[in-house]
Amino acid sequence: MTKNWIQGEVVSVKHWTESLYSIRINAPKVKFIAGQYTKISLIIDNEEVARPYSFVNSPNEEFHEFYSVSVPNGPLSSALQKLKEGDPINIGANGNGFLILNEIPDTVNIWMLATGTAIGPYLSILKTKASWNKFEKVILVHAVRYNKELTYQKTITSLKEQYGDRFIYISYVSREDSKSSLKGRIPKDIKNGNLEVKANVKMLPENTHVMICGNPEMVKDTTIELKNIGLKKHRRNSPGHITTENYW
Ligand SMILES: Cc1cc2nc3c(=O)[nH]c(=O)nc-3n(C[C@H](O)[C@H](O)[C@H](O)COP(=O)(O)OP(=O)(O)OC[C@H]3O[C@@H](n4cnc5c(N)ncnc54)[C@H](O)[C@@H]3O)c2cc1C
Ligand SMILES: NC(=O)c1ccc[n+]([C@@H]2O[C@H](COP(=O)([O-])OP(=O)(O)OC[C@H]3O[C@@H](n4cnc5c(N)ncnc54)[C@H](OP(=O)(O)O)[C@@H]3O)[C@@H](O)[C@H]2O)c1
Repeated sequence: MTKNWIQGEVVSVKHWTESLYSIRINAPKVKFIAGQYTKISLIIDNEEVARPYSFVNSPNEEFHEFYSVSVPNGPLSSALQKLKEGDPINIGANGNGFLILNEIPDTVNIWMLATGTAIGPYLSILKTKASWNKFEKVILVHAVRYNKELTYQKTITSLKEQYGDRFIYISYVSREDSKSSLKGRIPKDIKNGNLEVKANVKMLPENTHVMICGNPEMVKDTTIELKNIGLKKHRRNSPGHITTENYW
């Protein structure tokens, strides 16, 4: 084990579906900012396999939590899914990444768009008080294939109870009908205005920042549609409205 890893221990594994699971890890020394990721590693067939995973917990929670999907033939995600309470696991000693509020310029409303497991870093951010001091409204948009993949509903209900109308949660289910979710994909509903109507919030350059995380094709297609309505990529030396993180 290199000095960049610290050894943790699995506290619990919650299996949401046959492929989605969340791992809680006890490893007290990790330093990170809400929204960041670190690496997780396991020894598989005598080789170290490491991948980045976003924290779902906020920095002041006791255990570290990661939300993962077991991808077909994915070496690490398949191995992580089999972990049990008490198993050792290595995690990186520090957080990394720019999907964090310190990097977002001041504006009125923040949109947080995610596919699949990429809802994780937003939950980490929304569990911190800072996210609620910085914006008027927070619009969390989660896109999944099937209804059963709309996980973390208890956390979402708790945020709604705490922040009321300032918190808007919108879900998309793409591959089956759903009572309470929109059908299809996020980019088309930016193009046709449906997402703004559903949120009852306008996406204007003067009141908007959009964070996008997850499937790189979704990130790309969504960015195109946002640019078409007048938003631009945010860079430190050229402030804009769009901040992205690709999961692969
Ligand atoms: C900055 C960053 C943060 C990340 N955070 C998370 C996280 O919090 N949770 C998480 O589940 N994954 C996350 N990932 C992806 C993760 O690092 C792994 O790639 C994933 O768990 C699969 O690992 P693997 O070894 O099984 O397969 P890999 O060989 O790494 O991936 C195989 C293929 O699986 C698909 N894939 C990978 N990750 C996902 C995913 N999350 N959802 C859907 N399809 C995927 C892609 O097609 C990829 O080419 C993150 C990636 C990056 C770059
Ligand atoms: N979901 C499952 O039941 C399941 C089960 C076992 C294994 N897996 C594997 O797990 C991996 C991840 O699956 P996932 O469902 O979490 O992630 P995903 O494939 O990224 O899908 C999540 C959501 O993103 C949408 N999306 C995909 N491309 C998009 C684009 N260009 N623009 C906008 N939205 C887009 C999907 O819509 P569309 O549905 O229209 O693509 C879906 O609603 C895959 O390798 C899959 O094979 C999934």
